[in-house]
Amino acid sequence: MNKINENKAVGLLAELLALERGYTPEKARQIRNAAILHDVGKSKISKKILDKPDKLTPDEFAVVKNHTKIGAELLSSLRGELGEKARLICLLHHEWHEPSLGGYWGLSSRFLPDYISFVSVADVYISLISKRPYKAEWSKRDALEYIKQQAGTQFCHKLVNDFVPLIQNDKRIPAIFMEREE
Ligand SMILES: [Fe+2]
Repeated sequence: MNKINENKAVGLLAELLALERGYTPEKARQIRNAAILHDVGKSKISKKILDKPDKLTPDEFAVVKNHTKIGAELLSSLRGELGEKARLICLLHHEWHEPSLGGYWGLSSRFLPDYISFVSVADVYISLISKRPYKAEWSKRDALEYIKQQAGTQFCHKLVNDFVPLIQNDKRIPAIFMEREE
């Protein structure tokens, strides 16, 4: 999957989670459109750092973390509810349920709008099943196993309970994103 398709996949999965949680189709579509922009700040981060095959130094990690703030700034002129959602998603999509255990800015996703965590879990899943210069692509089965292991730490249990069956069973998801025998 190329980067554009990865972002689209994150958008689709966030939309399906929103529908699952009772958002109207219009609101769910808005979340999808906002979610697609979640990593727009990476366009301003050096490829040398983003594609570094080895572990990042603390300074390099600080640069990568900033893609969240840069993204929100880049979208500052995007108006209305879409703009507001897109900026919050950019800024906060790396926050954890349990912020003492991980996440970028020390906020707990339990106190953030739920649609941000839809993007977080979708982003982690799609990143795991995608090839990176520093890692091979994971099987869908292993990626789902990882997501399950993160229940109560990175993600809340309810989010994991909604996400896993969605990937396993939902007919609206293209087969490339789904768990299947390989
Ligand atoms: Fe990100």
